[in-house]
Amino acid sequence: MRKKTAAVSFIGLGYVGLCTATVFAAKGLKTVGIDIDKDKVNQIAAGKPPFHEPGLARLLKTTLRQRRLHVTNDTTEVEKTDITFLTVGTPSKPDGSIDLTYITNAARDLGSALRNKDKYHLVVVKSTVIPGTTTSTVKPVLERESGKTIGPDLGMCTNPEFLKEGTAIQDTFSPDKIVIGSNDPKSANRLKLLYQRFHRGKLPPTILTTPETAEMIKYASNAFLATKVSYINTIANICQTLPGVNVETVAHAIGLDPRIGPLFLKAGPGYGGSCFHKDLQALINYSNNNGYEPALFRATEEVNEEQASRVVALSEKLLGQLDHRRIAVLGLSFKKDTDDIREAASVRVIDRLRKKGAHVVAYDPAAVPNAKKLLANSIEFAEDPYSALKGADCCIVMTEWDEFRKLKAKDYQTQMRLPNIVDARRLYDPEDFKDMNFLAVGLGS
Ligand code: UDX
Repeated sequence: MRKKTAAVSFIGLGYVGLCTATVFAAKGLKTVGIDIDKDKVNQIAAGKPPFHEPGLARLLKTTLRQRRLHVTNDTTEVEKTDITFLTVGTPSKPDGSIDLTYITNAARDLGSALRNKDKYHLVVVKSTVIPGTTTSTVKPVLERESGKTIGPDLGMCTNPEFLKEGTAIQDTFSPDKIVIGSNDPKSANRLKLLYQRFHRGKLPPTILTTPETAEMIKYASNAFLATKVSYINTIANICQTLPGVNVETVAHAIGLDPRIGPLFLKAGPGYGGSCFHKDLQALINYSNNNGYEPALFRATEEVNEEQASRVVALSEKLLGQLDHRRIAVLGLSFKKDTDDIREAASVRVIDRLRKKGAHVVAYDPAAVPNAKKLLANSIEFAEDPYSALKGADCCIVMTEWDEFRKLKAKDYQTQMRLPNIVDARRLYDPEDFKDMNFLAVGLGS
C-alpha cells in the first residue's frame, strides 16, 4: 500500500511562507497556512495575495477552492499536520544584527501546540537565520514548550529558501537545489521524503548537512550575489569614465567564461529587496562579534549605497543644479514584477534628488500604493509613464519593467520639457536615443 503523503503547515505567511504554502498545496499536499495577522489571513482566505507576485493569485484561488490550502490565525491547527515550516520574518535590529523575536515566538507557539500531540511531528526552520540559531535558539524553545526532545517524537531541520521575488512560484516548483540541515537522521530523512514526493522522485541536487552549514549556505549565497552586483556596478562606474566603453559589452564577454557566468552581471542603480542588505548586515554583525571583519562584504554594501549617488550625479551632469527641476522617476519597486519597495534603489535616489531640491514625479506599474505609504506627500505620483514624463526636465529609469522597455525615444521627447534621460537599468540601446541627451550607468561618454 502507498504511504499517505504528509500534511504540511506554514507559520508566517509573508513572501516565502505564502508562496511556498500555495505551491505545496498546488502539488496536492494538504496545507495549512498560519499567520497571527487576522487581516492578512482574511485577505488570503478571500483569494487575494497581500503582495504582487506573478501567478500567485491564480494558484491561491485554485488551491483554496480545492480545499487543499486552508489559512488560519490559529497555531493549534499545526497539530493536524505532520510537518511545520517556520517561515516568519527575521528583520534587522538598528545595529544590523538579526532580530529573532518572531522566530522565537513562533517556536514557542508551535511547541505548546505540539505538547499533547502523540504522533511524530517535524519542525523545519525555513526563515533565514544566522548560523547556530536553529540549534541554540529554536531547539531549546521548542523542546521546553512541547515538553519533548528532538529525536523519536519530534524532528527538526533547517531548510533555507532561495526563491526570488517576481519568479517565486516557478522557483518553488523547480528549485536549483534543496539544502537540508539536521543533526538527527530521522528528521533529515522525513524532509527528504517530502521533497521526493513533491518532485515525484526527481529530486533537484540535495545537500544533506548540519543545521549550521545549511544556515551558512543561505548567507553565503546572498552575500555572493550581492557582491556580484556591487562588482559589476564598480566596473560600470569605471567604464563610465572611458569614452566609447560600454559595461554591457564587458559583462557579456566576461560572462562567457564559465568561471564567471553570465547571470547577475547587470549593472544598475544598486541592489534592493528584503534580503541582500538585511542578510549582509546580519552576517557582518555576526562575523564581527566572532572577531572577524569581513571587509569584502562591507565594501559590497558601501558600493551599493554609493551607487544611488552615482545615478543622481548622471542627472546633474545633464542638468547642472537639480534645484526646482522636475525629475520623472520611472520605476519604484526594487526590481520588475513585484510591488516591493523594501531597500529599493529608487527610494535612495529619490531621497538624494529631494535633498538637492528637485521636484520628483514617479510612476510604477505596481508599487505606487507601497511607495505612497513610505514617501507620502514628499513626491508626486503619476497614473502612467506619459503623465510622469509630462513637462519633466529629466527622466531617470529606475526599474526594468517591460512597460518601460517598450517606450521609444519619441515617447519621451513628445512629453518632456527637456530631452534628458538617465537609463539606470540599461534598458535601452543608446543608438535609439541619439537624438536625446542620453546617459546610462556604465556607458562611457
Ligand atoms: C534574493 C536572492 O536572489 C534569493 O535567492 C533569496 O532567496 C532572496 O534574495 P530577491 O531579493 O527576490 O532574491 O531578488 P534578486 O533577483 O536576487 O535581485 C536582488 C537585487 O539585485 C534587485 O534589486 C535586482 O535588481 C538587483 N540585481 C540583480 C542587479 O542590479 N543586477 C543583477 O545582475 C541582478
